This record gives sequence, structure tokens and C-alpha cells, in this order.
Amino acid sequence: MKLFKRILTYTKSHRLLLLFSIISSVIYVILNSMSIWLIGTMLANVMSGNSSSVSKPTSLNEHLNLLIQNLIGTGSQIEQLKSLCILLIFIFIIKNILLYISNLIMSYVQNKVITNIRIALFKHISTLSLTFFNNSKTSELSSILIRDIAGMRVAFSQSLQKLIVEPISILSFIFLLLIINIKFAALVIIIIPLSGFFSIKVGQSIRRKSKRTSIQSAGILNIIKETLSNIKIVKIFNLEKLENNKFIDENNKYFNLLFRQSKLSHLLTPINETIGLLVGILLIWFGGISVLEHQSMKSDDFIKFILLLFAMLQPIRKLSNINVLFQNGIAAAERVFSIFDNEEKISEVKDAIKIKNFSTSIKFQNVKFKYDLNSKNKILEEINIEINKGEMIAIVGESGAGKSTFSELIPRLYDVSEGVLMIDGINIKKYSLNSLRNLIAVVTQNSILFNETIKSNIAYGNNNISDLQVSKAIKSANLEDLINKLPMGINTEIGENGVKLSGGEKQRLSIARALIKNPEILILDEATASLDSDSEKKVHEAINNLVKDRTVIVIAHRLSTIVNSNKILVFSKGKIVDQGTHKDLLKNSKKYKKLYDLQAGN
Ligand SMILES: Nc1ncnc2c1ncn2[C@@H]1O[C@H](COP(=O)(O)OP(=O)(O)O)[C@@H](O)[C@H]1O
Ligand SMILES: [Mg+2]
Repeated sequence: MKLFKRILTYTKSHRLLLLFSIISSVIYVILNSMSIWLIGTMLANVMSGNSSSVSKPTSLNEHLNLLIQNLIGTGSQIEQLKSLCILLIFIFIIKNILLYISNLIMSYVQNKVITNIRIALFKHISTLSLTFFNNSKTSELSSILIRDIAGMRVAFSQSLQKLIVEPISILSFIFLLLIINIKFAALVIIIIPLSGFFSIKVGQSIRRKSKRTSIQSAGILNIIKETLSNIKIVKIFNLEKLENNKFIDENNKYFNLLFRQSKLSHLLTPINETIGLLVGILLIWFGGISVLEHQSMKSDDFIKFILLLFAMLQPIRKLSNINVLFQNGIAAAERVFSIFDNEEKISEVKDAIKIKNFSTSIKFQNVKFKYDLNSKNKILEEINIEINKGEMIAIVGESGAGKSTFSELIPRLYDVSEGVLMIDGINIKKYSLNSLRNLIAVVTQNSILFNETIKSNIAYGNNNISDLQVSKAIKSANLEDLINKLPMGINTEIGENGVKLSGGEKQRLSIARALIKNPEILILDEATASLDSDSEKKVHEAINNLVKDRTVIVIAHRLSTIVNSNKILVFSKGKIVDQGTHKDLLKNSKKYKKLYDLQAGN
């Protein structure tokens, strides 16, 4: 119920529409019961001819009969029949127009709400910290964003209205039944808890299964994603069959879960019909006897009663089927809101400062860091270092030493666990994230590209970039040869993650992107590690253009590229073990000398 309330909060801006829709539904329900009452009257009075004219009504039942008599007049039977038919047509038309309007509004509101929830969820996810993404699978998130939200849509676009209309229908039928005969009506009411009981039981089971189904569908998405994005490896290692089998396996599990849900949910209609029919037959039997033998109930009342009873079975059946859908929706909503409730964020302070320029230094003061707060071993320990504006600082060290982690703390991809990281003497947590990240560009070993054109990859997200700026960046990034080769030039689509480009080309594209951003602080994380020597030369020229007049932190794979740095930091096991210029370190640092000799020997 809490969850349901939470979904309803998203309908806030549509309150009036909803109210309108509910009112039309209620009128629809009243007209519907009325039409059944009328048909009952028609069958009983007009056809049998014993139209019992009521002159002084004493019960509500007689009041209603009098009202109808006034509506259809007291003319001949044929005339009464005519008026009845006209009245019925009239009621049916109005009733259905109202139903249409009410449905239309409901589906508008529901679809709007679901769309808003999906957008809100996507926004929320994008604000979550990398820690969150490290610990969740993208396929699971996609499954929640698409499948679970669709499940919510189906459930709530259909159920909300029915949850309002059907109970009112049932109540109005019960009311009319009570008017006719209290004793018999009491018997009818048992149907409700009975069918409610089955519906709730089945609903609960379906809700549990629905959760598993959702997780299972994430499994399927995962295989699709991994196979497609690693298709080269899959083919080279002849793993198509393995992947196919995995896929078949997951799909079979999915099928079984879905089918088990269907088996359960399709049980509900037969169960409800049987309960309803049993009660109905009982009533026909005893009611019939009381009409035929004891004449304790008038025959027209009896006919109306039976008609109303069978009419009531329909909303009961709908309601119990809706419960199944509703439970599915609740299970989906639980998953959706569990993501909303995740608050792993890199948070901004209230009065965040906008940092416009980088003016003095980046300073690590007793910085410690670990990815998992609960784990004992720190990834970075006691980092104390100051990087001055305009300097080029190089970082070397064995793989896993914490070099990338160190650099990722500066744009606050992660927050330091202990200590302070300052830019221009102010804790970076006090800056607005936007302004802080605007200062910094990162070029990594694996270029991260989008399946768009070269131009939009370079301008990424910045619409104010002119073609001239793009071509300047292309020139500085040494990409001109490539562009001239392509028939579509900078408007060429580069494929998912740039599959249509070579490693060096991708790297230079990333460099062009960094150039366009024109950052004050530049981080190069093994930007040339995966290149062959020919493209390396081109990339190096591009990098030389990029580092000009900036503060640069370069994590170096090849030491030959950093001999001219102002300072070299030697990282080992999360600590800075030595620092100095290339010359100093060759003399004083065993570790550095070892690394250097290893490469020179290569
Ligand atoms: N996202 C992560 N979650 C948990 N541990 C990580 C994560 N990224 C890196 N590590 C661990 O942190 C240590 C330092 O990694 P990293 O900074 O990437 O090293 P380097 O760049 O020097 O090779 C490694 O032991 C690595 O296993
Ligand atoms: Mg690294």
C-alpha cells in the first residue's frame, strides 16, 4: 500500500483529471446498475403483463419501481416496451461515452506518470556514484528501466481505474440486491470473501514469481549485451555455441517462470465462476421455491435479483484478475523504487562554490582511500603531494599500485575516504561538481566513444562548437588524414564504441575531444599504452599539442615519454614511495631505476 501511495504522489499534477475520471466512472457504474434494473423490470413487468402498479410505495424497492413506472408511463404494454427501449438506448449511449472519457483520462494520466517515473529514474541513476555502478549490472538496470517500468505501466494503467470502478459496481449491485431481499442478498455477499481469498493467495504467489521473472529477464539481457559487445572474442574463441546454449538456458528458465505465473492466474476465472455459479444456482433453487410455493417473493423481484446477481459476478471476476496484474505491478514498483532509494551519491554541499579558473595548486593532504568502506586494506595510503599550476607531473608504478585511483579522486569520481583534497586551497567537496569537472579532462587508455558521428564525439554535449573549432581540434589531434579519407568527413558514424576506427584513431579522437573541452587540468591515464609505434608517434604529436600550457598529470606506461616532467611520483602499493625528477630518481630510487632498466632492456 505504501508503494501504491508512492506511485500516487506522481499523479499530483493530474489530480483534477483523475477526479473527473473517477466521477465519470461512478456515474457509469450507476447507469450500468440502472440499466440492469431496467432490463429486469422490462422482463418482469412488461413481458409477463402483470405490471404491478405501485401507488403508495413503502419500501425503497417500491420507490424505485414507482420511479421507473413514471419514466416509462402507464400506457399499453407495447407503449411501455417502447419507452423502456428508448430509455435503455439513451442510458447505454451515455454510459459508454462516460466510460470512454474515463478510460481515456486514466490512460493519459497513467502513461504520463509512468513516463515521468522512467525519466526520474534515469536521472536518478545518472547522479549515482561510480561505487553504485561498480556494484550493479547494467543489464539489471536496463531491465528495471524498461521491463519493470513497463510492468508498472500495464498494471497501473489498467488497475487504478478498475480498482475504483469495480468495487463501486459491486457495492451498487449489493445495494440493489439488499433492496430486493435482505436474506438472499446476505447469501450473495459470501461470494466476495471467498473469491477474494483465492485472488489474494494467487496474487501473493504471483508477486513472488514476478520478482524472479524480472531478475531472469535481466539475465537474458546480460547475455545479449555481453555476446554482442564481445562478438569478436566470441567468434575467435569459437564460443557461439556456448553463448547460444547459455541464452537458451536462460530463456527456458524465463519461460518456465512466466508459464507458472500464467497457470496460476488463469485459475482465477474458473474458480470465481464456479463459486458464483454455485451461489447463483442455490439462490435460483431456493428463490424459485419461495416464489413458486410460498409466494414470499414477487416474480419480478426474483428475476431482477438473479439478473443483478449474475451481473455482479463480472466486476468480481475483473477485480480478482486485476489483482494479479496489480501484484505484478507492485513487484515491479518495488524494484524501481529500490533504485530510487539508493542514495550513493557524490553529494554537493548546499552553497557550492563555482570554480571558474584553476589558479594555484592541487593538494593531497593525508589522503586515504578505499573502494569498499568495509574492507580493511586501503587502496591509497597517506598521500601527501602538491601539484602546482602549469606543472607536468608523471606517475609511474606497477600495475594495481593505485595510479588510476589517485587521478580519479581529482574530478571526484570517488570521494577520498580520509584526508583532504584541495584545489586552490579549498576542499574540492565545496565546489559545485559541474564547475569542478569543467576544469578537468581525462584521456584514458581505452577510448570511450559513442555511436555517433566524429563531430558529435568530439563536441560531445557541447552544442556551441563550430565546425571551425572541430577542424582545428582535428588538426591538433593529428586526425586530418583520417577525415580526408572518409567520404562523409566529420559526419561519419563511427559505430558502437568506435568499432569502425583503429586503436590509434580512437585515441586521437579522444584527444580531440579533450582539446575542444580546453581543460585547465589534464589527466592522461596510460593514454598511449595500447598503441603500436607508428600510431604512437601520431598520438604523441597530438598529446604534445594537448599538454601545451596546461597542468598535466600523466600516468605513464612508457617511461621514455616522461623524462621531461617537472616531477615524477613513484607509486607502489597505494603509497608514493619516491619522487623527483628523472635524473634524481635514476640516482636515488631503486624502484624507479628497476622500472627504467626493465623498459630499456625491452
Ligand atoms: N572499481 C573498483 N572497485 C574495487 N577495487 C578497485 C576498483 N578499481 C580498482 N580497484 C583496485 O584498486 C587497486 C588500484 O587500482 P588502480 O588505481 O586501477 O591501479 P593502477 O592504475 O595503478 O594500475 C587495484 O588493486 C584494483 O584491484
Ligand atoms: Mg590504471
